[in-house]
Amino acid sequence: MKQWLKDAVFYEIYPQSFCDTNGDGIGDLPGITSKLDYIKGLGCNALWINPCFDSPFKDAGYDVRDYKKVAPRYGTNEDLAQLFRTAHEKGMHVLLDLVPGHTSEEHPWFKASSQVEKNEYSGRYIWTDHCFAGGDGMPFIGGETDRNGTYILNFFKCQPALNYGYGKIHESWQQPTDAPDCRATVEAIKDVMRFWLAMGCDGFRVDMAFSLVKNDTHHKKYTCAIWRDIAAMLQEEYPQAALISEWNAPRLALKNGFDMDFMLSGTHNGYDWLMRAYDGTMDSNPHNIGKAYFCKDSGTGIDKFLDDWLPSYKATHKDGLYCLITCNHDTIRPAAGLTTDELRIAYAMLFTMPGAPFLYYGDEIGMRYQKLPTKEGGYFRTGSRTPMQWAPGKNLGFSDAAPESLYLPVDPSADAPTVAQQQEDPNSLWHTVQSILAFRHAHRDLDSDAPFKVLFAPKAKGDYRPFAWRRGKLICAVNPAGAQAELPLKLKEGTRTLFVIGSAEVRGEDLILGDQSFAVLG
Ligand code: GLC
Ligand code: CA
Repeated sequence: MKQWLKDAVFYEIYPQSFCDTNGDGIGDLPGITSKLDYIKGLGCNALWINPCFDSPFKDAGYDVRDYKKVAPRYGTNEDLAQLFRTAHEKGMHVLLDLVPGHTSEEHPWFKASSQVEKNEYSGRYIWTDHCFAGGDGMPFIGGETDRNGTYILNFFKCQPALNYGYGKIHESWQQPTDAPDCRATVEAIKDVMRFWLAMGCDGFRVDMAFSLVKNDTHHKKYTCAIWRDIAAMLQEEYPQAALISEWNAPRLALKNGFDMDFMLSGTHNGYDWLMRAYDGTMDSNPHNIGKAYFCKDSGTGIDKFLDDWLPSYKATHKDGLYCLITCNHDTIRPAAGLTTDELRIAYAMLFTMPGAPFLYYGDEIGMRYQKLPTKEGGYFRTGSRTPMQWAPGKNLGFSDAAPESLYLPVDPSADAPTVAQQQEDPNSLWHTVQSILAFRHAHRDLDSDAPFKVLFAPKAKGDYRPFAWRRGKLICAVNPAGAQAELPLKLKEGTRTLFVIGSAEVRGEDLILGDQSFAVLG
């Protein structure tokens, strides 16, 4: 376990929407650097920045055209180096987003690969051997290149799959993972990682980490072997560099080189039951809200979360961190389905559970999901990617540009939450987030890898839905319901409340937890 991850709390930044310093309507790297004190003051000491590399932006930068060049719209490589230096001076760490599964169709590797004449990059992508050939179950494109073949896609049409080879081989054009072309792809990705690490980057969030080898085994044997190989390189050359996977499979990711894996929202999985549970999580129009655990009147119990999360946690907590998030750039903002009071206790639980928490920019003030037309391949995700709301006034403090030339419009509502207003108001969501994170940093028992145990998780009965858990010597408890709850926790004499949202009282061996309340006892 890398030392800095014990106390790490991450802040995810969508760079186009965070802070614009040159008035072109788009967020930039100097903007992020200028807000590091803000982020640190909130209680986050690490960043994950979505892809900030040169790209035609057909998937908001997840279609990389040059892995080693900052996209001009965000600044220069020197601006990124400056961001690393400033962050380090403040004791903060920065993860970049690594997209190893595919590039943009405009990447020079792909252009070379599309040529008729054989060259160094002919095998960098997965090509079939004929212009009419199908993709053996994978999406493929034909008719676009001089080369006589079709090529396999990893995601959108603009994202051809890099060639890491095949587990089970069915076709003559499929290569085993130890073929020279496939090994060259792994080495090329290592080279990209070294480039940024040498400049001061502290590690990577790895996009679609599961997607490298095609027709892999059920347990992703070959993809896992590649990650172990890459992790061994890091261990040797950059032992403090961290890797977190977009995988949601901690049993695979954390045993095969990743320090952390995300628990992601999936239709009615454990995380979804906590925070969202709308009908159709991938819907741009959340409906039937009100069913999540944290919704006051949902009647939903914590078992819906624990049934999913707990076995994964138990199986992997010795290997790494299974991390909880408030949201991300692919998910509808939590404020779409939770009120401010519901968000307070939701965050309080997320930030006191094991793992390194991830806060998506703007969730600290309850930024709302906006209904917007798609932008740069965002589709329903676009509404979670709007500009950060810093202060009342022009463009809510995001940019000096004319409002019509912003990357995306700011929340137009008269009561759009802003950082400045919430910092003034001691009862704001911002202050709740800040105080719970300060409490976390002050207690080693809340470190990401400190022990965890379920103390009290009864099946929900009407309004009786509390959950209590132990972290080292501390006891945490939450009651999302609209009625007070008594928790028979067999508390030792002298147990006191150390942190409370709502109301909490120790009465003999029991904890009396008010409606919509959270407490830490010790
Ligand atoms: C990941 C990213 C998402 C992107 C996709 C393709 O899921 O989080 O934003 O569209 O991969 O790279
Ligand atoms: Ca700008």
